[in-house]
Amino acid sequence: MNQKRILFDTDPGIDDSLAILLALASPELKVEGVSVVHGNCSVDQALTNALGVLELAQASHIPVARGFELPLVQPSLLAPETHGEGGVGYAKLRTPKTKPVAQHSVDFLIERIMSAPGEITLVCIGPLTNVAVAIRKEPRLIKAVKEVVIMGGAIRHEGNTTPLAEFNVYVDPHASHMVYHSGMPITLVPLDVTYHCILTPDDVQHLQKIKSPIPTFVADATRFYMEFHDEYQQIKGCIINDALALALTFAPELCDYEDHYVEVDITGGVSMGKTMADFYKLTKQPANMKVALGVRARDFIELFVERVEKLSESIPG
Ligand code: BDR
Ligand code: CA
Repeated sequence: MNQKRILFDTDPGIDDSLAILLALASPELKVEGVSVVHGNCSVDQALTNALGVLELAQASHIPVARGFELPLVQPSLLAPETHGEGGVGYAKLRTPKTKPVAQHSVDFLIERIMSAPGEITLVCIGPLTNVAVAIRKEPRLIKAVKEVVIMGGAIRHEGNTTPLAEFNVYVDPHASHMVYHSGMPITLVPLDVTYHCILTPDDVQHLQKIKSPIPTFVADATRFYMEFHDEYQQIKGCIINDALALALTFAPELCDYEDHYVEVDITGGVSMGKTMADFYKLTKQPANMKVALGVRARDFIELFVERVEKLSESIPG
């Protein structure tokens, strides 16, 4: 099979960890590296989590790079209420034996993408600080990357961090602004689609019949995430945003898309970090991305559960 070559830029993070596991469970994909950024937790914690999740899935051969610990302009904003102090809810990952690569994420992304022009799909599931600096340092990246799938934004949907703004954009709106207007071939996966994708307690329970450390990790991480969704948003289950974005790299048919000109508010008022699509072409600007606006949510959740089940069977313990 001709595998799709992917790089992650991520802040693990509960749903980030699930996205990494789904990627490792997907034969259509070859995960060539993981670049880590601040976001759901500190960059050092996110780095430990990325290495820990890869070890859990016996995939510690995949290189991991450390990126920025702060946004470009805004002060740091982490999300312990959503992902727990350690970033993976109640889950306890073993202290990883593997070390990150010496390169900074920015140089890691540049080297990997520039050495395979037109080949690499970049899956961005955290704040876009690393990616924004990478395209400033090496603008040829913009043409060299095959596709950029970004989990971020709330187009018609309410925000999950302010009433208007989604977390990944709100944490570093200036970086999002740079990336959204960069000219890269972007597919945006906003809350409009991810908020239909609810992993339920039954789905998690279904995985527990397999004796493997993976279902235990999924249960312990998502128990915390479900408590957050119940308390803050009255949702029974949890939204696995980042895993949906990853799934679209090999199963684009899960969503319906529209081409739009999307703007990010960086003016600093109550709508800071809000993402707006110009549905009526009022700005006369050409579309700068493909936006996922419809989703077959249950098909995605079933795909997720089936694949994680298979991955778990291959890693007994
Ligand atoms: C995004 O923010 C984080 O909480 C999740 O990991 C996801 O990337 C959803 O708004
Ligand atoms: Ca994330």
